[in-house]
Amino acid sequence: MKVQLLSDLHLETESFEPAPAPGAELLLLAGDIDSTWAGYKRFRDWPVPVFVVAGNHEFDGRDVTQAAAQLRTHCAAVGLVLLDKQSRVMADAQGRRIRFTATPRWSDFDVLGEAQRERCQRAGRYFLQRMAATHHGLPFDAAAVRTEALACRAWLAEELTRPAQGAWDATVVMTHFAPSLRSADPRYGHQPGTASFCNADDALLPLADVWVHGHLHCRHDYRVDHPGGGTTRVLCNARGHVHKGEADGYDGLRVFEV
Ligand SMILES: [Fe+2]
Ligand SMILES: [Fe+2]
Repeated sequence: MKVQLLSDLHLETESFEPAPAPGAELLLLAGDIDSTWAGYKRFRDWPVPVFVVAGNHEFDGRDVTQAAAQLRTHCAAVGLVLLDKQSRVMADAQGRRIRFTATPRWSDFDVLGEAQRERCQRAGRYFLQRMAATHHGLPFDAAAVRTEALACRAWLAEELTRPAQGAWDATVVMTHFAPSLRSADPRYGHQPGTASFCNADDALLPLADVWVHGHLHCRHDYRVDHPGGGTTRVLCNARGHVHKGEADGYDGLRVFEV
């Protein structure tokens, strides 16, 4: 199956006109498409199915407990499918069934090790204050983000170990946050703030054929070898912000094969 991947278009401030990639059978939107949600209507009448996972900025200024359901309705109104701790199986033209498993994942702040968690959570406050989201009416702070992140991780671990029993032939995981420090933005390296972007989900990587993510405003395409043979491909096709040079050379028609 040929799959088009876009993320971090940040249409709340950026000008970008998404176009369907020739030959793609599905479009994945890996979060931070538009914090106002208005930009989702650009994908109305898309020629192939569109699966969406929310990014952190889809919750800017909102209560995360209510906004997920509202975003689902908002997406459904223009024909898009929001996946939130959910999987969908889709068959390609050859009848091969691909399972798409998605969750925002958030950040548990443990990517640099448990001993660094507190430092990482302190560094995360800056981003969370800018988001200004709430959770059941209280600030969606680093502790609340970690709780949500651990729930996403637990769901993902269970879902990825569920036996296929012939229901799918391959698995693509889509998260907004990155599954490995290997996806850290090379501009910033490994520092406490990195834990607001990457998780140490390396042990889960072998359970997916492809893992796509967004959130880091850089692009990635690397392979991780499994201990028992085989590899997982990790992809990020984030656009980011023009004024920071992040969108230079962006290929909005990028597809991958699964
Ligand atoms: Fe982003
Ligand atoms: Fe993000």
